[in-house]
Amino acid sequence: MSPFLGRLAALAAALSTVPAILAAPAAAAADPCVKIAGKTFVPPADALACMTSFPFNETLRQNVLDVVSRVFDFYTFEDYYLKSPAPFQDSTTNIRAQLARINQTHYATDFDFNKDLYDFTTQLNDGHTRWFPDCSTSFQNILPAPIVTLEENGQQSVFVAPDSVAFITQLGTEFTSFFDGIKFDWQRLAGARVLEIEGVDPYAYAVRIAETQSGNYLDLGVRVNSAFSSYRISGTTFSQRLGDISGPQFPTQDTLTLKLIPVNSTRAETVKVPFLTNYLGVPFTNGADFWALNCAAKPDTNGVDNKDSAVLANLSKRRTTRKLARASIVDVSAKTAIGLPSEFQPTLPAVNGSEGVIKSFILPDKKTGVMFVGSFEPDDFDQFQTDVQATITQFQEAGVSQLLVDLTNNGGGFVCLGQFLHAFLTGTKSLGSFQNPGFQSTNRANPLAQKILASDIALGLDSNVAFYAGDNWAFLNNTQRSSSDNYMSPPSSRVINGQTFVESQRFLDVCPFSVDLPEDPPFDPSKIAIVGNGNCASTCAMFSTLMNERHNTKIALFGGKPGLATQFKGMAGNQVLEWFDIDSEIKTANLKDDPLAPPDLLVSGDFRHNWRIAYSFLDETLPIEYRSELPHFRFAYTADTYNNPQNLWTFA
Ligand SMILES: *[C@@H]1O[C@H](CO)[C@@H](O)[C@H](O)[C@H]1NC(C)=O
Ligand SMILES: *[C@@H]1O[C@H](CO)[C@@H](O)[C@H](O)[C@H]1NC(C)=O
Ligand SMILES: *[C@@H]1O[C@H](CO)[C@@H](O)[C@H](O)[C@H]1NC(C)=O
Ligand SMILES: *[C@@H]1O[C@H](CO)[C@@H](O)[C@H](O)[C@H]1NC(C)=O
Ligand SMILES: *[C@@H]1O[C@H](CO)[C@@H](O)[C@H](O)[C@H]1NC(C)=O
Ligand SMILES: *[C@@H]1O[C@H](CO)[C@@H](O)[C@H](O)[C@H]1NC(C)=O
Repeated sequence: MSPFLGRLAALAAALSTVPAILAAPAAAAADPCVKIAGKTFVPPADALACMTSFPFNETLRQNVLDVVSRVFDFYTFEDYYLKSPAPFQDSTTNIRAQLARINQTHYATDFDFNKDLYDFTTQLNDGHTRWFPDCSTSFQNILPAPIVTLEENGQQSVFVAPDSVAFITQLGTEFTSFFDGIKFDWQRLAGARVLEIEGVDPYAYAVRIAETQSGNYLDLGVRVNSAFSSYRISGTTFSQRLGDISGPQFPTQDTLTLKLIPVNSTRAETVKVPFLTNYLGVPFTNGADFWALNCAAKPDTNGVDNKDSAVLANLSKRRTTRKLARASIVDVSAKTAIGLPSEFQPTLPAVNGSEGVIKSFILPDKKTGVMFVGSFEPDDFDQFQTDVQATITQFQEAGVSQLLVDLTNNGGGFVCLGQFLHAFLTGTKSLGSFQNPGFQSTNRANPLAQKILASDIALGLDSNVAFYAGDNWAFLNNTQRSSSDNYMSPPSSRVINGQTFVESQRFLDVCPFSVDLPEDPPFDPSKIAIVGNGNCASTCAMFSTLMNERHNTKIALFGGKPGLATQFKGMAGNQVLEWFDIDSEIKTANLKDDPLAPPDLLVSGDFRHNWRIAYSFLDETLPIEYRSELPHFRFAYTADTYNNPQNLWTFA
């Protein structure tokens, strides 16, 4: 190096430290967030430049890791991860070693730290146990080419969705005009046969996405299905899920390289398809704004003391007198929802009770009723029950004799609604001497959990304000426990992968049903069948497992990678607590100052965790999460069924 160049390098090195010294109020021109302010769709590199403009902050790392590691103390499946049982062995990881690694790693930016923690928790493949930093998850990448796996002439292959023009135009002209502007013709890719993605076999690429980005489901086959696009109900409307190949969380990829043969062509070509990034957060004008609105802790980030009169006043507005257990995943792709174009929606008239998350129809054969149960998370807990009742009543009046339940992309919801649907469809007589429609359950009896329960009892708290209170549960003879019942005394322990796991005594859920369950099943239970794509999480997985374990209901799975065994259920923890929930339990029990308690989060985010186990009805030593249960039938999607529920039901 010449002396001159050497001096220049030294000068550059000196200059490069200047921004760090000047820190926060960067000049607007140098603030990459200004460039994208007020825009819904921006190129990925611009979104990333804004997100990576916030330097790594050691105080925030220590705060987040403190919260995360102390919440992991409550995580029911921690010890299984040291050696995840087959066929779920690909999730094996040492959680504490990962936390120690993240504690020691050098990160340049706040985004790098949060993405590492996000990726590690996502790759646990437990949708109940994940870190969601709002600062880094406010954008989502979208490819104008949803990728699907379809069977054509008896052969399964990967395609750009044949109807991608109909889906992508739903995103509006703000999305499509970007591609017009750069003269990229995405429309002509519709229906193209995909030979390679990023230089590898497209199914191998789907597996790569399933292993690194999809998360949520313990089973690899189920995750491969979430890599592809499929229909669903989002909220209360029909929708098309983009799939994780085409709708990844982070704007870290500018393009996706596809080797494909367009429709009506015989020649393979390689196309770099640009991603465009969707901003989903609160509008901002510059980096400081972006931080304040998305990244800094908000009033509802941390938990509350449910004994406070203002909180109690809110709680008393609930229709039920207790806190309701929830088990559901967070599907990143729910954020950018693409409506299912009307031409693919069912043409049959909807049956009564179809206004909410369930859509029901009678097929033209007049004997098959279909209930598409989009989720167990309605706005109204009671309405779900009256909807089921209204639908079944109409089915019976119409002489329907067999039932098809579609659970495609059902992300779960209220634990009790899964139990309700199961019991309503099969009748209370079929529950026999075991009158509770749920699974045996426990939570982890770590030292702080034992203190919380003891404190709740001493304070006289009940299920109105605390999930730990004993009256949330029943004894195994199905009599409700009392709120003064210490179900962790004595705790129970067993060895998992060489670790001593300490859990509560076994209990059952207590469900406040507002609709009476029939004694006799409305249909012969052998005439009930389930269809889905394995993306059936939490309460959905508990429902399908109950139907399988107790009634041997026929279950058919659609899609996935040809030849890869795929479970019919995704993840089956019994109850999730958000960070807000577990922090509220701690505060309500007056234990926020306990040395074992996590601090308040300084950033806006959620570290949720699986708080309860559901034990298999067939093997009461094994959580259903780790019980392999395969579908009875396996079918490929076709160009007629991947986006058209009615066609799929008719086929089924
Ligand atoms: C790091 O974050 C803390 C907490 O928000 C804040 O007080 C501190 O100023 C930040 N440090 C730097 C160097 O920005
Ligand atoms: C991270 O490492 C530091 C230094 O070794 C230690 O003091 C701190 O407790 C660790 N943080 C967490 C959350 O484990
Ligand atoms: C392919 O060819 C058929 C028959 O000529 C035509 O109807 C169809 O529109 C073509 N599709 C595309 C995408 O060019
Ligand atoms: C009560 O509920 C309202 C509406 O959900 C919310 O905005 C408010 O913060 C709540 N108050 C308390 C004290 O939790
Ligand atoms: C459907 O609901 C309407 C309005 O509640 C009711 O009048 C009708 O009888 C119901 N139909 C059947 C078949 O139950
Ligand atoms: C149910 O079991 C509990 C605990 O063993 C017992 O105290 C209770 O009396 C039983 N209830 C009934 C109705 O048998």
